[in-house]
Amino acid sequence: MSGPPQHDHPDVVLCPGGPVLVRGAHTVQDADGQVHEVRRPVVALCRCAKSARLPFCDGTHKLLPEGARP
Ligand code: FES
Repeated sequence: MSGPPQHDHPDVVLCPGGPVLVRGAHTVQDADGQVHEVRRPVVALCRCAKSARLPFCDGTHKLLPEGARP
């Protein structure tokens, strides 16, 4: 048997100074309770709260000073 493990729950990766990458999610619920449908295999969720596309990362974290990044 080879290849990635087969399971039905998402994989989560915390990117240092950046977003949370989630592979295999079907929906994301934001802080206001709104549910966003996920259509991509991997989504990047904002951890710095500066994204213009919350709850998704738009790369704004890269503009933050080193100490202000998540
Ligand atoms: S983590 Fe990327 S914009 Fe917030």
